[in-house]
Amino acid sequence: MPNMSYSKIPQLANFTKMIMASSDDLITVVDKQGIIIAMNPAVGRLLRVNVEKLIGLPIIQTVYQGRKFDYQGKYLSPIIETLETGREFKDKEVGIQAPLLLSDFICRTTTGILRDSSGKLAGVYCYDKDITKCRSLERKNENLLDKINTQQLQTVLAFSEAIGARDDYTRGHSERVAEYAQMITAAMGLQELNELVYVASLVHDVGKIGIPEHILNKPARLSEEEFQRIKDHPIIGANILKQIDTFSYLVSIVRAHHERFDGSGYPDGLIAEEIPLISRIIAVADAFEAMTSDRSYRERFSIDYAVEELKRCAGSQFDPRIVSHFVTLVCGNGLEKGFTQP
Ligand SMILES: [Fe+2]
Repeated sequence: MPNMSYSKIPQLANFTKMIMASSDDLITVVDKQGIIIAMNPAVGRLLRVNVEKLIGLPIIQTVYQGRKFDYQGKYLSPIIETLETGREFKDKEVGIQAPLLLSDFICRTTTGILRDSSGKLAGVYCYDKDITKCRSLERKNENLLDKINTQQLQTVLAFSEAIGARDDYTRGHSERVAEYAQMITAAMGLQELNELVYVASLVHDVGKIGIPEHILNKPARLSEEEFQRIKDHPIIGANILKQIDTFSYLVSIVRAHHERFDGSGYPDGLIAEEIPLISRIIAVADAFEAMTSDRSYRERFSIDYAVEELKRCAGSQFDPRIVSHFVTLVCGNGLEKGFTQP
């Protein structure tokens, strides 16, 4: 519209009123003295007042009962802050407190200075998009996620208990494996995997629920046939966890915890990086814990022996990088002297 001034559109005032009336967003305009010169019905709905009655009155007295600041000395309202300081808000998330509000009000606020034809301050406008419901929904979702996480952890602990009910060794074993595995992830600088490695370690032997008790607790070396039965436990464990949607991320980890770095492990013969990292970490922690614990058919080995075994099998049974981190952790810091053995 070349050379056309807005004032030349006679219906503009009516259009502006219609837009303000139909908007769910909050629109307020004050003059340079803070007198309300426009306020749309959305503000009235929020404050439970007839906005027509507020036009021509000072915003500080009517909406904020004479207060400009909160108890920390911050402005209660963006529009007043812009009017008094000249600082404008651009789509900024703010919480607004006003005595007329029944509850917290969170909005995205934009304010701007209105100037007259000579460039002098004439007033300030404020445009608020109400995001209170959106934020409260997010908080509810966060709470729900916390609850789901807690329930997941309780389920994992229930699994751990169920394993322990069959076999005392396995329960204590899983807890110690979890402890060692967490130490490894920390030493590798992978703290973000801490929770995952803990949960996966606690349930890694859940499939032993499906192994006959006389094999699990046999006070002698297993026969070849019995050993073949034991070798089913990663698959049984994966199948159990597969039934629970929220544990789907544990399925491949549990299935692969007896894979070997050189591909000679079971059940799938995965090689090196094909084996999930958490499974490779659990494999090292698991072997170390098994070697340094008393078993029904033998006494524990010394920590020195266990460390030498890990080193000997690095690159064949175990990921050498993980062994190196763990050995440094156990020996490098002199921990082998004070290392807790069950
Ligand atoms: Fe296992």
